[in-house]
Parts: sequence; C-alpha cells; structure tokens
Amino acid sequence: MTSIMLPLVKVIFPPRESLLPILESVLYSGQVAEGQQVYEFEEQFSKTFNIPHVLAMSSGTAALHAALTLAGVQPDDEVISTPMTAEPTNTSILYSGATVVWADVDPSSGNIDPESIRKSITAKTKAIVIVHYAGYPVRLAEVRAIADEFAIPLIEDCAHALGATYDGKPIGTVGDFGIFSFQAIKHMTTVDGGMLTMADAKHMTAAKKFRWFGMLKGVPRTEVDIQTIGYKYNMNNVNATIGLVQLKHIAAVLDRHISNGSYYDKQFQDAPGVGFARCDSVAKPSYWLYTLLSDHAEDIERALNAANIMASKLHRPNNFHSIFRSAKKPLPGLDQFYRRLLHIPCGWWVSDEDRERIVAVIKKG
Ligand SMILES: Cc1ncc(COP(=O)(O)O)c(C=O)c1O
Repeated sequence: MTSIMLPLVKVIFPPRESLLPILESVLYSGQVAEGQQVYEFEEQFSKTFNIPHVLAMSSGTAALHAALTLAGVQPDDEVISTPMTAEPTNTSILYSGATVVWADVDPSSGNIDPESIRKSITAKTKAIVIVHYAGYPVRLAEVRAIADEFAIPLIEDCAHALGATYDGKPIGTVGDFGIFSFQAIKHMTTVDGGMLTMADAKHMTAAKKFRWFGMLKGVPRTEVDIQTIGYKYNMNNVNATIGLVQLKHIAAVLDRHISNGSYYDKQFQDAPGVGFARCDSVAKPSYWLYTLLSDHAEDIERALNAANIMASKLHRPNNFHSIFRSAKKPLPGLDQFYRRLLHIPCGWWVSDEDRERIVAVIKKG
C-alpha cells in the first residue's frame, strides 16, 4: 500500500513543454490584460463544448453575478436556489440584493428537487438557480418546464459539471444562462476564471459592459458614457492563455473522470449498504467528484482514510451559514442526502489500481 494519501481533488496543468513557451511569450508581450487571447479562449471553449454564446470572466462567481443581473434580478426579489453547493452559488444572489429562497434537494442525487422549486415560487421569484452538484446533471427537463410555465429565468451553475450532457445537449445550454468555473481544483483550471453562457445572444453587449466597468472595449475612453453599473470581472490574457492550452488536453481529463465514475457505478450497482447519486437516464455526468451514499458514510470515510485514501463531504450545506438565517425552513431531502454523503476520489489522477483498491475497501467495510 502506498503511504501517500490519494487526494479527493487535484490541480491539473498541461505538460510544461506545452504550456510554458506560450505562457512566457504572452507574459512578455506587453499585452497581458483582456485582449486577443481572451477572445480566442472564448471561441475555442465555445467550439470544444458546443455552447454558442459565451463570455470569459475573472471567476465563476463573477459569472453568477452577471447571470443574475442579466436575468433581471434586483434588490428585494426572490431567487430560488439549492443549499447543497459551494457558497458562491448563493452569496452571489446576495450581491444582487435579492433574497435566497431554498428549494429542497432530491436525496438520491443532492441536486435541487423540481417539485420543491414549484412549491417555492411566489410573485417575487425572479430567477431559479440550479447546480449540477459534483458533476451530476439536475433533472433538467422538469426544471426547464417549471421555468417556462412561470416564465422565470433559469440559471445553471455548471461549476462542477464541465463536459456533462443532458439529453444530448451540453450542460449550460438548457438554462437561459449558465456559468463555469476555472478555479484551481475544477476539471479545468486557468488558475482563476469563469465563463458565462447565454441562450440568447441579445444579452452579449450588456454582459460585456457588466464585466468591464459598464464600458465596451474598443470605444475611446474619452467618449464613453457609462449608463449601467459594471464591475472589474474581465478575464486577462494570461489566464486565457492557460485556458487555451488546457483545452487541448481537456478531453482526456474528462474521459478519465467519466471512466472512473462509470466504473464505480457498476461496482456499487448491487453492493449492500452502499448507493450512489442517480440522474435522469438521459443525463451523462462528468463526475467532478464521485457521490457515494450510505447510512454508514462515517465508517466508510474512516476505513478509506486509514487506507490512505481521502474521502469526505466537500461542502457545508449553505443553509447552515448565519448569513442565510432568514431563509431557514425544513429541508428533509437535504438532511437525508447530507447525512449519507461521502465523496471519494474519482478524477484523472485515480489509476485503475487506485479505483480497485477504493472499491475493495468500501466493499469490505
Ligand atoms: C458550485 C460552484 N459554483 C460557483 C463557484 C464559484 O466559482 P469561482 O471559484 O470560479 O468563483 C464554485 C467554486 O468555487 C462552485 O463550486
């Protein structure tokens, strides 16, 4: 047995010889702010994932703030969201001055429960935010139908789900807006960065202004007239260059996450006392993390840790935070999911031998 702990998440960079020469040339080009590399990164990302309208941002959080604003969310509006996510999904709602309204989660996946969304809608609801938690697609057909029925914009937080699909569609294209994160430990990193996706290109000009102080690039600074609030949310050429090189290698990275995730699904299909996250049959997860579900989650975690394999719950349900105190309500689906949740290593660094060892420890436990 190896003495080095097998990590649950791991930063990936392309081989030095593939990244460093091009990075060096950009660093010393005199053009490190937003420019050609950013626009090329947008184009290549759009082609790679077949997502038509995209805009690179400084982070996934910035992209969430943009999506909420472009969706029309304003102070005192309500936004329905899931507590089972990383905090930025919900703190960005507070940036807009809106109130977070929790929908419960489906305990079989950890994703937002469509029926709970329906029950949470009021006259003040201005957006629905969903998260494909750990890379497992939400029950998108039902959620899209509810958003259409009530004419409420749908925002997909795809920070965990790069490369996942739903009914043949790339994740991030079913909602009115979507966001991706290229933060350090995601499937693909640009060190920090994000991408905003829009179903309708009519939002593009407003989105560009939102990401850069309320101005458009290319308009002389002495002539520009700022009419709406914008932020310093643009991506720069350095992060975009890293992204461009990462894109050349992303297919193999995603394949390995998916291969490991599918392997576990098969192994645990009939394993007593152990379950795993389930999606609609038309959904193809990209397994950023593998979501194991068991009444014995703590015992399994201890057994894996003792075997030098990291395993844990990765996020704290956001309703536990004081800042969301006023949104408090019973969330039995979340309680059940969180109690049974255990993430196990699943990414590109998990070898065939590692995954066999992980399954053996779990089955033995
Ligand atoms: C679900 C989710 N949404 C949004 C974000 C925000 O992304 P970023 O860190 O790029 O701002 C993250 C990651 O940090 C995340 O995990």
